[in-house]
Amino acid sequence: MLAIIGGTGLTQLDNLTITHRKVARTPYGEASGALTFGHINGHEVIFLARHGYGHTIPPHQVNYLANIWALREHNATHIVSVASVGGIHADLTPGTLVIPDQIIDYTSGRKNTYFNGAGQAVTHIDFTEPYCEEMRQRIIEACASANEHCIKQGVYACTQGPRLETAAEINRLERDGATMVGMTGMPEAALARELDLRYAAIGVVVNHAAGRGNSKIAINGNEVQATITASMVRVRKLIAHLVALHHEA
Ligand code: HPA
Repeated sequence: MLAIIGGTGLTQLDNLTITHRKVARTPYGEASGALTFGHINGHEVIFLARHGYGHTIPPHQVNYLANIWALREHNATHIVSVASVGGIHADLTPGTLVIPDQIIDYTSGRKNTYFNGAGQAVTHIDFTEPYCEEMRQRIIEACASANEHCIKQGVYACTQGPRLETAAEINRLERDGATMVGMTGMPEAALARELDLRYAAIGVVVNHAAGRGNSKIAINGNEVQATITASMVRVRKLIAHLVALHHEA
């Protein structure tokens, strides 16, 4: 089954017909909120709001282990993550949808693996390609069918937050090869891989990264909010197309 993890601005899907909700307890604690089960145009999905339904859990306090575990426990096989990002590359202007194909992890101190139990064999997952290519292509196809332009690849830099970056930090991320910056891509993507779940992300550019474009002097929170609100309407439509394609496949 396809699961959708909604980020900032996507704490609910208004095109989702809800059948039930379930509080998910796991060996790693509670997920960010109850799992929401339902269907979009007749196709079953599970929805989870990454930051909680009241948007109260900051990126560094999200229980990523519990979230991914809970989704797998409830038969998710595929996860699409929706994540707001700041645009570093000039093409990634506010309102752009981008489907990342690579990640660089700059987080620290987050619980980032299931493979650390006493007596467990040492395990190193392969993470050369952090996103499921088949899902990425399906998202790109869904963009075409929803008539939404998207940028088909990009390098997601995951920072620790919760503060935004300095202009110099953004310059460094760019030198490293990053084209967008967010705070939630890791360890989420790696944990999904550890549990053998197919995972891909829809990046929603909600601001120019610090020091770029109209964020030259500062990032304007009101503008960001307006972009989030307008973009998530498009993302909900895109998800409806994605769910249909997923169920046809
Ligand atoms: N930086 C980090 N995370 C973000 C940003 C940003 O500029 N915009 C949205 N999430």
